[in-house]
Amino acid sequence: MGIFEAMKKIIAFAGSNSSTSINHRLLEYVVDLVEEKEVSLIKLTDYPLPIFGEDLEKESGYPEELKRLHEKLAAYDGLIISVNEHNGGPSAFFKNTLDWLSRIEYKFLAGKKVLCLSASTGKRGALSSLEYTVGVLPRYGGEVVASMPFPVLQENFSEEKSEIVDESLENQLNDVLTTFLQSL
Ligand SMILES: Cc1cc2nc3c(=O)[nH]c(=O)nc-3n(C[C@H](O)[C@H](O)[C@H](O)COP(=O)(O)O)c2cc1C
Repeated sequence: MGIFEAMKKIIAFAGSNSSTSINHRLLEYVVDLVEEKEVSLIKLTDYPLPIFGEDLEKESGYPEELKRLHEKLAAYDGLIISVNEHNGGPSAFFKNTLDWLSRIEYKFLAGKKVLCLSASTGKRGALSSLEYTVGVLPRYGGEVVASMPFPVLQENFSEEKSEIVDESLENQLNDVLTTFLQSL
């Protein structure tokens, strides 16, 4: 990094609104691995939004929390997102956030690199939700540079030690994180 080059900034958040979100827990682990970059882990629940609807939008415009979230995202070069899965798709909470953001500025991720993760208690690691997210973020200008589903988090991640139990998953996660960090 040259002396005049500003340190790249990364924002991380889970797609879940659960106070005990395993995706948020995974991100706590991931952001601790990041070196030489500024990284902020936020919670989308700090930006509560009503269910999007065109009638509501016409009547009330953009919620203050949406404006705050949009402005917040604009300040970052990269995103690490970890999505949950409900009934084979992205959670309604995450989809709702995307729908609102797409209304305030369609290309709200323009110029940003994205590492997309997903975690679940099941064997597929929320892969369907991950695939949906990887597919849709480019519409908003985001460049997904790496992605990885994390299966059966309650067994493959140790809460007490804050470490990944399964070596192959640990290696995969290190690889996707390195790819992402090098893209910035
Ligand atoms: C309504 C509901 C539907 C779910 N559907 C799926 C699913 O389709 N695939 C999956 O892997 N896990 C599913 N799960 C289990 C989630 O993986 C688990 O609740 C996980 O903790 C969600 O992530 P979070 O804690 O970050 O919100 C579902 C859970 C709920 C409550």
